Amino acid sequence: MQENIIPHQFSINKEDRTALKGHRSFLLWFTGLSGSGKSTIANAVEKYLVDQGIHTYTLDGDNVRKGLNNNLTFSPEDRTENIRRIAEVANLMVDAGLVVLAAFVSPYKVDRENIRNIVGAESFVEIFVNTPLEECERRDVKGLYAKARAGEILNFTGINAPYEAPEHPDIEIDTTQYTVEEAVSEIVKHIKTKLVK
Ligand code: ADX
Repeated sequence: MQENIIPHQFSINKEDRTALKGHRSFLLWFTGLSGSGKSTIANAVEKYLVDQGIHTYTLDGDNVRKGLNNNLTFSPEDRTENIRRIAEVANLMVDAGLVVLAAFVSPYKVDRENIRNIVGAESFVEIFVNTPLEECERRDVKGLYAKARAGEILNFTGINAPYEAPEHPDIEIDTTQYTVEEAVSEIVKHIKTKLVK
């Protein structure tokens, strides 16, 4: 099938779209355990960017696993497919000229490498929200760790499924050391020059 898909040459491209927006587009990918604070930090970064007139969009479990990916489970194969589809969607949004923030556990190194291949290394910023398991479990915001410990959830990351921590993330946030505001400053410092056209 694929060989019969011949791309149309559209007259408007990514350069035109980012020129109109006045900033470059890329993907900020937040990885970390459930309850590590990925969505909270992504949300605060997005608020800061929007206040600066930057065009953004946030992808997270709430708007993806309930819609586009509502047929996927937490098996290793389905997690891989979850991340692949999100990376493809993010790639389209980067092509549309947006700064995309994506907050997903994304526990497998190979899946995160695949995101880099899909969007291109220059458009991919990997942010490791490094909160120790004990702290995520202590917070247990959604009550899922208690359920996993009780054996009610199988394949729960950190309890009975692996989390492969990034070895060389672009940015690492230790949430036991940083406030949300400090995490935002750290991320903004890193991406400031990337935004400039
Ligand atoms: S991923 O592994 O495929 O990247 P994703 O980020 O989409 O996961 O979803 C993780 C969220 O789903 C967690 O924050 C948690 O709220 C919920 N969840 C439900 N079951 C599981 C599970 N077995 N493992 C991890 N998270 C789960």
